[in-house]
Amino acid sequence: MTSRSCLAIVLAAGEGTRMKSKLAKVLHRVGGLPMVAHVARAAAAAGGNDLALVVGRDAQDVEAAVRPFVSEVSVHVQSERLGTGHAVLAARAAIERGYDELLIMFGDTPLINSDALRLARSRLAEGASVAVMGFRASDPTGYGRLIEREGELVAIREHKDANEDEQRINFCNGGLMAIDGRVALSMLDAIGNRNSKGEYYLTDIVEIARSRGKKVVAIEVDAASVLGVNNRVELAEAEAIFQSRARRELMLSGVSMVAPETVWLSWDTEIGSETLVEPNVWFGPGVKIAESVVIHAFSHIEGASVASGAQIGPFARLRPGTRLSENTKAGNFVEIKNAAIGAGAKVNHLSYIGDANVGANANIGAGTITCNYDGYNKHLTEIGAGAFIGSNSALVAPVRIGDNALIAAGSVITQEVPDDAVGFARARQSNKPGLAALVRAKNKAMRDSKRRS
Ligand code: UD1
Ligand code: MG
Repeated sequence: MTSRSCLAIVLAAGEGTRMKSKLAKVLHRVGGLPMVAHVARAAAAAGGNDLALVVGRDAQDVEAAVRPFVSEVSVHVQSERLGTGHAVLAARAAIERGYDELLIMFGDTPLINSDALRLARSRLAEGASVAVMGFRASDPTGYGRLIEREGELVAIREHKDANEDEQRINFCNGGLMAIDGRVALSMLDAIGNRNSKGEYYLTDIVEIARSRGKKVVAIEVDAASVLGVNNRVELAEAEAIFQSRARRELMLSGVSMVAPETVWLSWDTEIGSETLVEPNVWFGPGVKIAESVVIHAFSHIEGASVASGAQIGPFARLRPGTRLSENTKAGNFVEIKNAAIGAGAKVNHLSYIGDANVGANANIGAGTITCNYDGYNKHLTEIGAGAFIGSNSALVAPVRIGDNALIAAGSVITQEVPDDAVGFARARQSNKPGLAALVRAKNKAMRDSKRRS
């Protein structure tokens, strides 16, 4: 990658009225990550590690969303919304720090990829002063049109200001551009607001640069990459594109999906090769699945790490803090939270395991529940290696079950069970021979007397 310094300026001061939301538009999520964070990630991956955020409201939340992905963030409030050119200048203090290149990005285009940004930067390195990202629109209404001559971009005409000929052009401004950082400020300062909207159009920079003898180019990117989200319908469209890209990438890396269109991934989902994902599986953020795992249908997984050879579901729920070691099983209607399950251990049916350490090769019987919560505090359950928990047992935490211990089915365990011991915690069974017939006769007589009265 080029060693030229680069500042990414992310415009996010829009009101986002059409989202009809209390949340700032750019904080709405795609693939489980706020849109503006997708933009920051792409910028960083293209070398734009310093980020200037131009915001109107929720400045702190927007800043917090991008901070994990870039090395430097400065926040600039644009108090009056006077157009994209004006918005970029809100970040004047950041631009004045002096960068070789500026990347202008919109906070509501979550599908932008770093390849397109790198391409734009490479055109600057080759001598252009401005490189604009354009796309072919099936319906260009509303977009700025890119007017080219002899391989160079000569102007961007906003829809409202375009004549009939120009309105027929379908090569549109995606809104993102790279600008030579050394001349950017003087060009931005030259932008005026004499147009049909009375706004400072960033797009005027094209003609300004050319009037100063500088070269301006347009690069073509696919329309999805510059898809701007304005309402929740477009948010769902962006999500659909994100999902199909993410599934495709995983399948090409060796993951099998029987019905990919029913598998929901997050931006950070990691799945190893030879893993099979059956239909209708949901991956929330923070999931790492190793190779050769089988995830049966209708499982819901978030914040979990799963080692190779594990089998999950059908209908399993793995919540944050779940760690499944090699060759473990978490079967149907099993919920696991903040618990480590040792290698080869099985939790096959109808269990809740929360705040627990389960040793290797332990077997957790059907219906076992860790009673981890007293209404105020969470408590730990420790289950030793090789332990066998009989079905329908309640383990009242904090409690420890020793290595190779056995718990009798139906027990309510409130005290430690030492290594190799058997814990019984239920009433002893007693049988009364022949009593069943007597009980029936008595019950029948009671019913018959009620009917007579
Ligand atoms: C802009 C482009 C248009 C392009 C289109 C692509 C200009 C003048 N026009 O038009 O050529 O085809 O995007 O989607 O640039 N913003 C601020 N402060 C402002 C104004 C805007 O932060 O004062 C932010 C918005 O939040 C948004 C972005 O800049 O993220 C674009 O603004 P918007 O009003 O949507 O521009 P368009 O009219 O769509
Ligand atoms: Mg727009």
